[in-house]
Amino acid sequence: MDKIIIANWKMNPASLKDAIQLTKDSDMKGLIICPPFPYLDAVTRTIQQSDLGAQDLFWEDLGAYTGEVSAQELKDLCVKYVIIGHSERRQNLGETDEMVAKKVAAALKNDLTPILCVGETRAERDSGKTKEVVKRELEIGLSKLINFPTSQLINLVIAYEPIWAIGTGTPDTPENMLDMVKFIKEVLGVRNKMWDVKIIYGGSVMSRNANNFLKHKEIDGALVGGASLKGEEIKKIVKISTLENFNN
Ligand code: PGA
Repeated sequence: MDKIIIANWKMNPASLKDAIQLTKDSDMKGLIICPPFPYLDAVTRTIQQSDLGAQDLFWEDLGAYTGEVSAQELKDLCVKYVIIGHSERRQNLGETDEMVAKKVAAALKNDLTPILCVGETRAERDSGKTKEVVKRELEIGLSKLINFPTSQLINLVIAYEPIWAIGTGTPDTPENMLDMVKFIKEVLGVRNKMWDVKIIYGGSVMSRNANNFLKHKEIDGALVGGASLKGEEIKKIVKISTLENFNN
């Protein structure tokens, strides 16, 4: 299975000009670029090999929802993927598991691939609550998918992103990620028969540590924040993800 690398630019770079330059510097097959909404149009016109993703969407198709963006509006710009429930939205904007669930269903209904982010805080990790938190985020986040056919469900991407590893320079260990992949599959398999979804890692992925995660066949890719703001760096990570001589 091909691995996917997701470039989550967050609220960067500082100008449209820089966004176009970063797109040119990063453009590569296997990369999904997720710029801020105002840059989507320019990025979609500039990419030749990458795919386009968004960092959020709203669950309604149309209407009086000031400041929100619908799945259909994203699709008009050739967006194929959408990050949902990123911890920065959960923490800074109070996004709840219930809101996340509506967004995941809206994305799938409109043939966008949701990248559902789950993960625990440092305090939750330290008090042994990681699995409890991730289980809740998965069960509620996917709770509106009961009537979707399996053919659509297997398009889902789950990003395990321990919050304490995001932007800190200290990633989780590959061993823990492998344990989380097993656990996430268990939760999905038991509840939803969705064993084939892609499960990726996020949190301080850089070219110097990407191979530690990507060499494992169980880990389907990476969600990259800070390191995606340098073309050279993200290209190195994509190249690592395409190596065929992984040792398992
Ligand atoms: P980071 O961000 O790579 O800068 O840690 C990852 C993310 O927030 O998705």
